[in-house]
Amino acid sequence: MRGFVYLLSALTVCRAYDYAQALRDSLLFYEAQRSGKLPPDQKVKWRKDSALNDKGQNGEDLTGGYYDSGDYVKFGFPMAFTSTILAWGLVDHEGGYIAANALDDARKAVRWATDYFIKAHVSPNEFYGQVGEVDHSIWCRPEDIPMHRPAYKIDTSHPGSDLASETAAALAAASIVFQRNDSSYADILLTHAKQLFDFANKYRGKYTESITGAKGSYETYSYYDELVWGATWLYRATGNESYLKIAEQLYKEFDLLYWTTGFTWDKKISGIEVLLARMLGKPLYKDRVISYCGTLVDSQKRTPKGLVYIEDYGSLSKIAAAAYICFQLADLGASSDFYRQFFKKQIDYILGDSGRSYVVGFGNNPPTHVRHRSSSCPDAPAVCNWDTYWSAEPNYHILTGALVGGPDSNDNFVDSRLDAVHNIVACDYNAAFQSALAALVDLKL
Ligand SMILES: *[C@@H]1O[C@H](CO)[C@@H](O)[C@H](O)[C@H]1NC(C)=O
Ligand SMILES: *[C@@H]1O[C@H](CO)[C@@H](O)[C@H](O)[C@H]1NC(C)=O
Repeated sequence: MRGFVYLLSALTVCRAYDYAQALRDSLLFYEAQRSGKLPPDQKVKWRKDSALNDKGQNGEDLTGGYYDSGDYVKFGFPMAFTSTILAWGLVDHEGGYIAANALDDARKAVRWATDYFIKAHVSPNEFYGQVGEVDHSIWCRPEDIPMHRPAYKIDTSHPGSDLASETAAALAAASIVFQRNDSSYADILLTHAKQLFDFANKYRGKYTESITGAKGSYETYSYYDELVWGATWLYRATGNESYLKIAEQLYKEFDLLYWTTGFTWDKKISGIEVLLARMLGKPLYKDRVISYCGTLVDSQKRTPKGLVYIEDYGSLSKIAAAAYICFQLADLGASSDFYRQFFKKQIDYILGDSGRSYVVGFGNNPPTHVRHRSSSCPDAPAVCNWDTYWSAEPNYHILTGALVGGPDSNDNFVDSRLDAVHNIVACDYNAAFQSALAALVDLKL
């Protein structure tokens, strides 16, 4: 039966979406998430400068970076993951950005984060991983944040290997992006990446034991995978065998071969394996990714309309991340056409195949009530408060390009700000989705 359905979908590939447009739109979402002083070429004009007093404990300038989601915390961990994945899309599918006329903006999206990480890395073993606190008691514009925004860091007595190594991965991946564009900046990125990785590896621990305010939002299962991930990206960026040795040694020591596969902000295992497979061609890693993608196709739960359903919370970001890994596998020549077509259909589900779009401002019947403070608020000086949140009105501004959490397991979706599980947006949601779009454009699918 399933084979028959595939045949049907293969015959209806003419149902195309404008992936290049979706790619450009996704970059606008990142513009809307910018914190700090906005540049003159900012395209999302309804956003203004904000959080200009973000400072470290000794007064260090910590302005910039991205607001994580629909509120105003700058969480370093998902911001780093987001940057790694955006940079990865540029490294392997730059052609997609060029074809979409979006290369400049994509580099700027990565650089908006990496400039901030450089500021936050105040000394080799000292890194700020959070500014602002989870405060769900207010609903306002980012330009009007009333409360004090404390900054939290990791250091040798308060380590955070997951945070430091994910940031090392982001900076290493970004250094590859900028090698071709601004080589002195690429060198700076690499210097910080190496220092952060050494810090992560030498002073071991989970960052949420040091930055406890992140526990409720982004506590990782383990820092083991991030350590291997950081070393793997440093190997890719430098070609230095000593990083490869560390990556493979730790992969073995931590028994990652026996971890269940997957790829999320918390779980890097299938990303590590597909990257090592790409660089080394070893069946050890490649077979794991083949098994991962095969399982998604053959036995993962599906909604009635065909979405591969991994988890209720952020279901679409989960399949987008899986799709990106399987596009990577396809690049290695493993059942390439099959995986590309299969996961392209999953992206098509997001863009409209179920009868609606799940990307704000894109396609047919997109979400208009996303749980996102800044886009819900009218322009100053109009009041923005909890009445705005409870209002049945659509968001005042269109948060173009934002991927929402997604439907439940029966393809049901209520476009309401009150539904955090299905209608929230986040930097990490869009990251693999955007890189998957870059792959689709690059491959002319
Ligand atoms: C580097 O990238 C920026 C932003 O994309 C662009 O404006 C600049 O021209 C590029 N420089 C080179 C040397 O490619
Ligand atoms: C490779 O990296 C190691 C560890 O950081 C360093 O000690 C070594 O000098 C590097 N080798 C080269 C050729 O850069």
